[in-house]
Amino acid sequence: MPSRTTAAITAVGTYLPPDRLTNADLEAMVDTNDEWIQSRTGIKERRILRDESKATAFMSTEAARACLEKAGVGASDVDCVIVATTTPDTVFPATACRVQDAIGATKAWGFDLSAACSGFLFALTTGAKLVESGMHQRVLVIGADTMSRIIDYTDRTSCILFGDGAGAVLLEPTTDGTGVLDVVHYSDGSGGEALQMPGGGSLMPPTHGSIDARAHYLQQDGRSVFKKAVTGMADAAAEIMERNELGADDVRYLVPHQANLRIIDATARRMGLSSDKVMVNIERYGNTTAGTLPLCLSDWESELRPGDNLVLAAFGGGFTWGATWLKWSYDGSTVAEKTLAELSA
Ligand code: ACO
Repeated sequence: MPSRTTAAITAVGTYLPPDRLTNADLEAMVDTNDEWIQSRTGIKERRILRDESKATAFMSTEAARACLEKAGVGASDVDCVIVATTTPDTVFPATACRVQDAIGATKAWGFDLSAACSGFLFALTTGAKLVESGMHQRVLVIGADTMSRIIDYTDRTSCILFGDGAGAVLLEPTTDGTGVLDVVHYSDGSGGEALQMPGGGSLMPPTHGSIDARAHYLQQDGRSVFKKAVTGMADAAAEIMERNELGADDVRYLVPHQANLRIIDATARRMGLSSDKVMVNIERYGNTTAGTLPLCLSDWESELRPGDNLVLAAFGGGFTWGATWLKWSYDGSTVAEKTLAELSA
């Protein structure tokens, strides 16, 4: 019996800026230390986009190009570009339109999706539905954030957490039973003030006063975000496992949003997963907001095989959170080999 049409991830591409901001660098900027940062968050260093002439569209474009090259798909065959971001180049036009133009996706439409650290998860669902419905054959879903542009580097409680980066996946239809299989997504706007950038929108346009009040930087009540994130991510991951009758043995990897190692560990414990089944790269990149999930998929790509069950989980500003059951669609080891061979050719 043929399976229903689902959206398969058929390639992953990323971009990370070359410059590193280490815990030692931060020690020279604010009253903090490497031991505190590592023990409270798991982070050792982050990447920072120093070139001020470039921003989220640039990183998204680089990630999209890498993704399409790996897929062997031309940009003119892309139907839609979705960019999940909290740090668009401009309020408008959308970053997705800049990316669509830069890569030459001449027949594609595109838009930005704003859901903070859950942005990639929500964009993946949106793109998957465009493919499942039969409307589109190729959708680029990008998660990208230039967090360094909205971080207050005098605030030690937040500046240690974030970094810059981008990842892109290509979605194409399949009937082989793999792809995006189920999602649980939530929002709770009553928690909005716990994690926000108050200035710059229509409620508080930029003024000398808003700049003096540092309202154009991310502000958070870290402790309450932490509490909500621990339960939100773990509950959503447990819910998607239960309703699809997935046991810990059935799950190949948890792909968690990289906000804090302690939040990731709590989610893995709740799912009954050992640490070898959890993708963690927070020590190298920090929290790249919408970038974390595709950056994990890319780092672990060579380990992934068709039919591997992945549970993606995220929690972010809004509040927004959720989990997605994704059955992997291709042999990542052959792509990694191909890429190496192509590089050395
Ligand atoms: N270095 C040294 N000390 C620090 C630092 C620092 N960088 N930051 C805070 N402290 C101090 C505090 O001032 C406090 O001191 P006090 O006890 O004298 O008052 C002490 O360390 C403990 O502070 P807590 O806030 O209780 O520390 P906690 O263990 O909660 O860790 C952290 C703080 C890392 C921010 C944690 O709360 C966290 O990760 N929260 C979630 C934040 C997050 O993930 N945000 C992004 C969500 S995703 C999105 O949508 C963008």
